Amino acid sequence: MPQRANVARLRSSAPVILPSLLLCDFGNLEREVRRLEEAGVEGLHLDVMDGCFVPNLTYGMPIVQAIRRLTDMPLDVHLMIVDPEQYVGQFSEAGADVITFHVEAVKNPRSLLERIRDLGAGAGLAMSPETELSRIDGCLDLCDLILAMSVAPGFGKQKFDEIALDKLRRLKQIVGDDVMLEVDGGVNKTTIERCAEAGAGYFVVGSAIFGKEDYGPVVRELTQLAGRR
Ligand code: DX5
Ligand code: ZN
Repeated sequence: MPQRANVARLRSSAPVILPSLLLCDFGNLEREVRRLEEAGVEGLHLDVMDGCFVPNLTYGMPIVQAIRRLTDMPLDVHLMIVDPEQYVGQFSEAGADVITFHVEAVKNPRSLLERIRDLGAGAGLAMSPETELSRIDGCLDLCDLILAMSVAPGFGKQKFDEIALDKLRRLKQIVGDDVMLEVDGGVNKTTIERCAEAGAGYFVVGSAIFGKEDYGPVVRELTQLAGRR
């Protein structure tokens, strides 16, 4: 499935629950992907961490490639790395459909957003909780997705930070439905409705899904709470 078609698929499917592949069983990746597909999941969120931008280290292109071979679902790749400009080409090659980098990690977000689009992928821009919305001024026209983090990037299982809700509300007023608005961190059945009301259409969920015996019921419950009729 070419990247643009997968970006269009994501855009037309809101609200979408995107399981974050950070707390999954990496020793049984194929089984995890099949279980998520059977649970009705419509995309995957891949958390790439380099141990520099965030104090944690996860995986890179080989795992993205492996997951690309396992499924044609849209892959939403969240780069929590320094120098993302060095790697967006390789992540696009590896099969990422949306490539999201942190505005805090670059000097010129506009040029990297353009580069990601030129590669054929959807261009995403992420803000950590403490980053002011004004930091992404002048970039919105080049974003396919904007990610308002509701936890400090680097780890799952953290407490939801409501600061993301203000950003989502203001972003929704500015971009309407033109840009996919995503929230990531501490999203679960007690926080997801407020995220949807604030304007998010894309919900990254880690610990609220993984560790459950059966992914189906929790994915269905979160999808309904997110506003899927
Ligand atoms: C944190 C990651 C998130 C995280 C979500 O840096 O970007 O995607 O894994 O996990 P939960 O849902 O447990 O907060
Ligand atoms: Zn993430």
